Amino acid sequence: MKIQDIQNLAIKMGTESDFRGMEGVQKLLNGKKQKFEKMSEKDRGEFDKDSLENPYLDSGIYNIADDKEIKKVLVGIDVGPEEILIARELGDIDLVIAHHPVGKGLAQLADVMELQADVYNYYGVPINVAEALMKERISEVSRGVNSSNHQRTVDAAKLMKVSLMNSHTPCDNLAAKFLKNFIEQKNPERVGDLISILKEIPEYKEAMKIGVGPKIFVGSPENRCGKIALTEITGGTEGSSKLWEKMAQVGIGTVIGMHISEEHKKEAEAAHISVVIAGHISSDSLGVNLLMDELEKKGIEIVQCSGFTRFSRVKI
Ligand SMILES: [Fe+2]
Repeated sequence: MKIQDIQNLAIKMGTESDFRGMEGVQKLLNGKKQKFEKMSEKDRGEFDKDSLENPYLDSGIYNIADDKEIKKVLVGIDVGPEEILIARELGDIDLVIAHHPVGKGLAQLADVMELQADVYNYYGVPINVAEALMKERISEVSRGVNSSNHQRTVDAAKLMKVSLMNSHTPCDNLAAKFLKNFIEQKNPERVGDLISILKEIPEYKEAMKIGVGPKIFVGSPENRCGKIALTEITGGTEGSSKLWEKMAQVGIGTVIGMHISEEHKKEAEAAHISVVIAGHISSDSLGVNLLMDELEKKGIEIVQCSGFTRFSRVKI
C-alpha cells in the first residue's frame, strides 16, 4: 500500500460506518459537485477540490517525502514536530499517521461537524432542530480553529522529509459504530452495567491502569440507562449544549461520549440524561486500531506513540 491507498481505505471504512449511511455521504459529495459545476472560473480557483472526493476534510495527506510501498508506520493520537523528530530518529518509519487533525485538516475541522446533525436526527431529534443548533456551533468551532498555527507539524515533516497524514473522523466513525454494535449486543440495563461492559474493551482496560477508564460524569450506577445514544463520539468535536434538552425530549436516557465540557455537563444534568465518558484518548485509540487492523493485514508494521495504544483484532 502507498500513502494514497491508506487514505482511500480510511475514507472507504469511514464512509461504511458513517451514521448517514453510504448514500447519505454520497449525497453530500454530489451536492458539492453540483455547487462546483455552477461556479465561475474565479470561484473554482478558490474551491478546495479535495472536498469533491473526500467527505472528511479533517483528514488527509500533508507530505509525501517518498511515494513508496509503506512497510512501517508511526501512529499517534496527537502528532507535533516532536513525533516527526521521533520518526526521523527511529530511522525506518515510512509514514507518520496522526489521529487529530493538523494543517489543512485542522483548519477545516468544522466541516465534518454537519455529520452531528444527522447523528442527532438518527436518534430522533428533528433534523430542522439539530441543523439549526449545530449551525451555530459549527461557526463557533470554525472561528475557534482559525487562529491556530496550522502548518507547524506539516512544516516539520517537510523539513525532515517525513511523510505525514491523519485520519480523524473516519476513525471516530469506526469507534462509534463498534461501540454501538457492542452495546446493542450486551443491552445493559443500568448505567453501572454499561460501565462494566465498556471495561471489557481492551483500550478502556488499558486506560484504567492510569486512572482514565470509563466513568459516569452525570447520573449514578443505579440509574436505568433508557435509550442509549452515541451522539458524542464522532463529528469533529463537541456539539451544541442546547441539544441536551432536545435529546431528553425525544427519549434519550444515556449518552456515551469521549469527553464533556462543564457547560455540557450542566445541561445534561438539567435534562436528566446520564452521561458515561468512555475516555478520550482510549476511544480515539479504539477507532484508530480498527483502521490499523486493515494495515496489519496488508503486512504493515505499526509503532505506537503519543498516547495511541495498539490493540490488534486481527485473527491469526
Ligand atoms: Fe479525539
